[in-house]
Amino acid sequence: MELLEYMKNRRSVRIYTGEPVGEEKLEQILQAGLLSASGRAVRPWELIVVREKKLLKKMAGARAMGAKMLEGADCAVVVLGDAEKTDVWTEDCSVVMAIMHLAADSLGVGSCWIQGRRREASDGRSTEEYLRELLEYPEHLKLEAILSLGMPKNHPEPHKLEELPMEKIHWERFGGKKKYAYMEHIAKEVMEFCKELDEMPENPSPRSVDRKEFTLLLSGISACRKIPGIQLHMGYETLYHCENEKDAAEARAFLQKMYEIRPHDLESLKVALIREFSECEQYEQFRTFWLGSPMFSLDELRPEGRAWFVKSRDMAEAFSPVVKERGFYAWDINERIGLCRKAAACGMITDEEFWELTDLWVRQAQVFYHSWKEYAVSCLCGAVYFMRREKEEQLEAFLKLNMNLIRQLFAEGMAWQKSTWYQPQEREWVEMFDLRQECLITKKALEEERIGYMYRQNPEEDFTDCGWRFMAGDETEEYVNEPGNIIVCQYSMVCNIEPSVRAYFYSDRGKQYEKVNGEWREIR
Ligand SMILES: Cc1cc2nc3c(=O)[nH]c(=O)nc-3n(C[C@H](O)[C@H](O)[C@H](O)COP(=O)(O)O)c2cc1C
Repeated sequence: MELLEYMKNRRSVRIYTGEPVGEEKLEQILQAGLLSASGRAVRPWELIVVREKKLLKKMAGARAMGAKMLEGADCAVVVLGDAEKTDVWTEDCSVVMAIMHLAADSLGVGSCWIQGRRREASDGRSTEEYLRELLEYPEHLKLEAILSLGMPKNHPEPHKLEELPMEKIHWERFGGKKKYAYMEHIAKEVMEFCKELDEMPENPSPRSVDRKEFTLLLSGISACRKIPGIQLHMGYETLYHCENEKDAAEARAFLQKMYEIRPHDLESLKVALIREFSECEQYEQFRTFWLGSPMFSLDELRPEGRAWFVKSRDMAEAFSPVVKERGFYAWDINERIGLCRKAAACGMITDEEFWELTDLWVRQAQVFYHSWKEYAVSCLCGAVYFMRREKEEQLEAFLKLNMNLIRQLFAEGMAWQKSTWYQPQEREWVEMFDLRQECLITKKALEEERIGYMYRQNPEEDFTDCGWRFMAGDETEEYVNEPGNIIVCQYSMVCNIEPSVRAYFYSDRGKQYEKVNGEWREIR
């Protein structure tokens, strides 16, 4: 086994079988200790190996509580340091302790560190005094710790790598996050791709599309992914249906196996959609952290969730300059509509159910994006983030594959090139924020759908106020002081006008921000 494998397995073992630790193993453990690094190679340590049962029992009293396991131990190694030889004897002795503890575990011997320095014995004396009398070591030697040893009765489960507190690692400076170089590399490639898209000639006379066609066009990428039973490309103009019942049955069986969707069970489809494609919600949570108004504290997460969150958040950050508040919505919308299309194609859901389900995503698409190009870039970033657990080469290949699909969608006469981005006659509002919260907004900001300044106050008590105040930014003081110009509205509604405000929702009261060159800047 490699050293890291031993480390992964290491645990403190306090209950022993009573069997003796073999001489050879004990010798190897002690050798490992003596092989330790020490400051200026002074090796200020002395080790007392105790195997006499009577002595071990007495040693258990060296601590009021923490040394009980010595009663059942086969052996103890007391590590002492010579304080006259070096001022780093505690560090030197700790290294010996740690190495012997790990060596023991790797040899199948259970061990546990028992703290000696600065601790009290059961009789009120210091642990050091207690043991000095028992083991007769001289004054100039100071007690560091004791390693109890014995054959393990049971070895606790190894710690899980996914539960390691990764947030304790700071990069470059305190609070600094890990940069995922390959994610940044991919983000750069996406930036290049943005330029390529910008340089593509605009279609001088794009076809305008209705809401239904727009819905189908939103599944641009996922519609290209075929599944058994859906032989042809589903197209983007009408809702596709399988050619015959045999094909439909094949498609249903596939969807059932892959996504656990059951025919005529809308709930099972909804569950699958959320389970498989929720990259957009994750990105939104991450964004509250990047902008300094985290929606929760990392301490609230369970260890495995925390490690996952921190890693995913730091990986996603590479895309934040590219997609900003638009995040990964496009990817999820594309995938969700794509999956619903397949479910509708084979009759797992009805056409009506399809249009009902997809309505929300069509509204979201309108809030976040203004063109197929914007939508395409966000799709691409979301796609890579979706596949982030894959190896670098696979990620790169997935990026290229999706870039090529997008190039095809923008080729002369193809779906996203020939069609306009759908703009409804009247604004379609969408619930963009879970919490039912209200805020104040100036009439001007609401009418012109333009937010340029926002701040958070202590909430008013006569409505469910979240404390946020929004303005266009160029209102006069006189205008703002006129009560008729201030309106109570849903926070969610403001998010429709300016989706970038959502990530600031949890900012502390008293914070204020102004929009400068399209970015929010805190006013201090
Ligand atoms: C400096 C130090 C002092 C410790 N003191 C004691 C102790 O006095 N008694 C004890 O039972 N365990 C002691 N331990 C063991 C810890 O309780 C143990 O490492 C911790 O609970 C984590 O469990 P693990 O080692 O299985 O990962 C000590 C460990 C260290 C590093």
